[in-house]
Amino acid sequence: MRGWLIVNPFLDTKKFQEIYGLLCASAKAEGMELEMKTAAELMCPSGDDFARFHLPDFAIFWDKDVYLAKRLEKAGVRLFNSAAAVEGCDNKILTAMALNAAHVPTPKTFFSPKTFEGLGYKNLAFLDAAEKEVGYPMVIKEAYGSFGQQVYLANSRAEAEKIIAGLGYKDFIMQEFIASSRGRDIRVNVVGGKVVACMLRYNEQDFRSNISNGGSMKNWEITPRQEAAALAACKALSLDFAGVDVMFGEKDAPIICEVNSNPHFKSTLEATGIDLSRHIMQHIRQVITCED
Ligand SMILES: Nc1ncnc2c1ncn2[C@@H]1O[C@H](COP(=O)(O)OP(=O)(O)OP(=O)(O)O)[C@@H](O)[C@H]1O
Ligand SMILES: [Mg+2]
Repeated sequence: MRGWLIVNPFLDTKKFQEIYGLLCASAKAEGMELEMKTAAELMCPSGDDFARFHLPDFAIFWDKDVYLAKRLEKAGVRLFNSAAAVEGCDNKILTAMALNAAHVPTPKTFFSPKTFEGLGYKNLAFLDAAEKEVGYPMVIKEAYGSFGQQVYLANSRAEAEKIIAGLGYKDFIMQEFIASSRGRDIRVNVVGGKVVACMLRYNEQDFRSNISNGGSMKNWEITPRQEAAALAACKALSLDFAGVDVMFGEKDAPIICEVNSNPHFKSTLEATGIDLSRHIMQHIRQVITCED
């Protein structure tokens, strides 16, 4: 079985290289051939998409380049995760829409109206509606963001206005702050419709639990309600595998924070000893064998 590991041509820091290394090592251990490729190496004219390449049996899509993903699928390559799944997770507006449509519990969320470069959010009438229902503190998140870096907490209208002014013309969401989950959530790793590992992430200094932002982690025994919510989120977004962030609502009711199609699973490995990449390879083999 021959596959490509599609990675971003520009994300080559140690943090990313480690993940690519784990994926390649697991493929080898499972007796699968896995070759790393970037969009830069797969350049070909639209219309003649990939006719010049020896296409693989599958590709693990660890990039967020949705155009490339869609073109590969059109050329007949089975992607893990699919282009639609990657797109639905990458954009927090699309994620919220998919989760709501499937009645998966999420914080109450408003979307920014569309604006343009040079215009920005030049009047904030839309904020009135959001603050009336969401109130303060209000979580403001850029539609595209990772490692908690594009997630902000506004404690007042003045803070919200300042944050929004700093966003230029980027799309963003305005979200209810789940106070019972301040600085903590669980990262649930799902492969092929099953939970394979779970850890608690916590940070007493920050409302965000992300490990890259100074959070700590430990193994977590998932509850049946948390498991059901995480699996429902993966189903809503048609994911083969994912890292689902689940917050603690009132009486520990699970609330889905967000879903990652390319989960950074190094901390899960450290906290639980479980290597997600091994499960991913086994899942791919099973799917490709069944689809053949
Ligand atoms: N509505 C919310 N209420 C309380 N805490 C929140 C809320 N949304 C996010 N957080 C906290 O902020 C952290 C970061 O938010 P989120 O997971 O949405 O973005 P991200 O981590 O940047 O995305 P990614 O996981 O793709 O890197 C969460 O793990 C959680 O601890
Ligand atoms: Mg997250």
